[in-house]
Amino acid sequence: KFPDEARVVRAAFLSSFFALFLGAVFGIIQTLHRTDVARIIPSTDYYTVLTAHGVFMVISFTIFFLVGLFTWAVTRSLDRPLLNIKITWTWYGLMATGMTLTGISILAGFVDSIDMSADVLYTFYAPLQAHPLFYAGLAVFIVGTWIAGADWFRTFLAWRRDHPDERIPLQTFMVLTTMTMWYIASSAVAASVLLFLLPWSLGFIEQVNPTLTRTLFWFFGHPVVYFWLMPAYLLWYTVLPKIAGGRLFSDPLARVVFVLFVLLSTPVGIHHQYLDPGIAEGFKFISMTNTMFLLLPSLLTAFTVVASVEYGARKNGGSGLLGWLTHLPWRKPEFTGMMLAGLMFAAGGFSGMVNAGMNINYLIHNTLWVPGHFHLTVGTAVALTMMAGIYWLWPQISNKPIYSSQIGLFQVVLWFIGMALMSNAMHAQGLLGVPRRTAEPEYSGFDYPTMFGGFEELNIQIAIGGTLLFVSTILFLGNLALTMGNPKVAGLAEPLPSPVSGAEDAPQVLDNLRLWVSIALVLVVLAYALPIAAIISRGGLLGPGVGTYPVWLAPLLDALANAAATLLGGIADTSASLAE
Ligand code: HEM
Repeated sequence: KFPDEARVVRAAFLSSFFALFLGAVFGIIQTLHRTDVARIIPSTDYYTVLTAHGVFMVISFTIFFLVGLFTWAVTRSLDRPLLNIKITWTWYGLMATGMTLTGISILAGFVDSIDMSADVLYTFYAPLQAHPLFYAGLAVFIVGTWIAGADWFRTFLAWRRDHPDERIPLQTFMVLTTMTMWYIASSAVAASVLLFLLPWSLGFIEQVNPTLTRTLFWFFGHPVVYFWLMPAYLLWYTVLPKIAGGRLFSDPLARVVFVLFVLLSTPVGIHHQYLDPGIAEGFKFISMTNTMFLLLPSLLTAFTVVASVEYGARKNGGSGLLGWLTHLPWRKPEFTGMMLAGLMFAAGGFSGMVNAGMNINYLIHNTLWVPGHFHLTVGTAVALTMMAGIYWLWPQISNKPIYSSQIGLFQVVLWFIGMALMSNAMHAQGLLGVPRRTAEPEYSGFDYPTMFGGFEELNIQIAIGGTLLFVSTILFLGNLALTMGNPKVAGLAEPLPSPVSGAEDAPQVLDNLRLWVSIALVLVVLAYALPIAAIISRGGLLGPGVGTYPVWLAPLLDALANAAATLLGGIADTSASLAE
């Protein structure tokens, strides 16, 4: 219906899958390397491989998919083209150029004759330093995503002028709330790159405050995981029920979930810094408490999505407590892939609870448990949903049927098995204390105390799992490439059914984006103003000895500190009198 937009969506998906391919190649190299099965690179290149794997997977693959999906979702749900397709191609071009620059700076690390290196991992905070091209590329990429968001907001506002009294269509609502979260979150990483890391790498300033750049990174680094996750949620809420033969159970609950992410995703980033010495324990405790609230939207999602699928199954003749499960389209890769992804997400939720607990986190901090965790969440819940979604989505945007559904089905199941092996063994090695981000974790002459499963046996599980994942990726990409060669068939674009409980049942206030942004900003200030003020006043804006925060900020920060002290004092007095 909208061929220009479909072209952008396809371009974004293809960029995403190119990054997936590169990420998978580096993924298998490092898996076989660190398990000592095959070492085809010198260990000194391990960080280059790891940086390439991390950046291509979680910055390029996920975010290119997101912009493709969101462009589709906005045009589909508003039923109108984007305002100006030239702007749309501009942001796509900026993102592609930015990622190419960053990619070149990383890959140059393999070539000894080029004096360029960006082995800073996908977390890229100081004290690791990259070539300026790495940061410049990232900045251009992020600006591209900002313009993409503006493109969708402008299209929505044009729609609003024509439909002043209608509820925001659900998919557009999901896009707008996710982008709101992204603007808040990415402002910190942009500040970190533009004010500190880029000038430092260009030699304009001599040093930076590493705790500050870490804190600014994690300000962005936790919400970014929801930025990866929201496209999967969009597919689970709006497409999965249709594939299951049913309808979304509740539009209002879906809106509540997305609003909760706007509010809660940012004031939690310090939970990635439980072991950072420069941040007071109290701030870490507040961050942990906020983190626990994030369970709520996940549990609401589990309920709503499963209820929608069950509705479809019962409509198709399913009955009994669990008997309805047999009335679902398990032969369709898009369905089975998303269901398996959801199942892995539940497992990832449990291992995430361990990460989130301030005390128990010490047990697994910086061990292989952590990649074990996020290969369940972003590496499967998100990645597998995206691949499964493509089996349904690609025909909608290209009018070409998928080359082989059987290969698709095999591929998604293979991913599940591969990840079950790799991730389980990573968790188990983490409990043995095996470090992450290490080329040769076997350290000669050092034995890991075994609680269950030997270190070697777990290594084999990781290697087999990683290999299955690599094969699964190649099958996915091969199937898609063959699909592109298929002849066009008319009428593949399918409408999405309306929810059982629709937007009219949702309180109007849910659509009040201004309100949610304001509350989100207040929460961000409450969670971050004092820790950042303390980090700057102790460690200096640009590191120790180079001066502190600008003089004009001092009275403001003092006032904030006094207000917080009064507030905390008040709370302490009240609880003391309550205790009496
Ligand atoms: C790290 C393998 C897919 C994101 C790792 C590590 C291994 C691995 C073994 C740990 C390396 C270490 O800490 O020393 C694989 C394989 C994959 C795969 C074989 C499938 C082909 C994915 C996917 C994503 C992902 C789909 C996300 C969308 C990451 C990230 C890291 C990582 C962010 C952390 C990098 C760092 O610590 O800087 N991967 N992975 N991986 N993986 Fe994967």
